[in-house]
Amino acid sequence: MDDGRARSLEQSASDATGCTRCALAEGRTQVVFGSGDPDADLMLVGEAPGFHEDRHGAPFVGEAGQLLDRLLAGIGLDRDDVYVTNTLKCRPPGNRDPQPDEIAACEPYLFRQIELVRPAVVATLGNFATKLLSGRPDGITRVHGQELELVLGTTPVLLYPLYHPAAALYTPSMLRVLETDFARIPDLLGRDRGPVEGAPAAAPDTTIPPGPRETAGAPLQLGLF
Ligand code: URA
Repeated sequence: MDDGRARSLEQSASDATGCTRCALAEGRTQVVFGSGDPDADLMLVGEAPGFHEDRHGAPFVGEAGQLLDRLLAGIGLDRDDVYVTNTLKCRPPGNRDPQPDEIAACEPYLFRQIELVRPAVVATLGNFATKLLSGRPDGITRVHGQELELVLGTTPVLLYPLYHPAAALYTPSMLRVLETDFARIPDLLGRDRGPVEGAPAAAPDTTIPPGPRETAGAPLQLGLF
């Protein structure tokens, strides 16, 4: 990773620290921006910080995070090999679902992270990250394990929807599916990242990148929540 991208990622994290774009700013202990390798080939995107993440300032440090660690270990990776973040950077009160206005206010941070980290594979954990980044309304039960070539902002990626580890924690059948889907990640990471149809040759100079765009040129659906 060149120094410029690393510095820009730090700057974006620092900007987010004082973010007041939505009402979640009032209830948070701290912003949970993201953690891991800023040059990772694999980015994992969850839903929102919970109680423990809000206290620690890092994503996936609770029980779901421990499961995530086990899943990563199963494919020979650990947290230092990947970049982990969430759809929302602040904890919703009582861990309720993210609201559409909160997702809209927060998504520029996620698109900036994708633009700067430039992961080859973005694994979305659960419905919220999957719907936001796919630009499609299809639920995770239908689309898990099915990779999708997309341009996110200006970055060509393989989007890979997965069940959320928190959902799989207490549902053994879901855990088995999650493990099976996870096992394909090394193969997806090894895929040649050729030019994606419709991807611009050079990134425009923008600090708030545009939203997702499908390679096939199908109309983008927003306002899905
Ligand atoms: N669940 C999430 O979606 N993200 C976290 O960081 C923790 C739990």
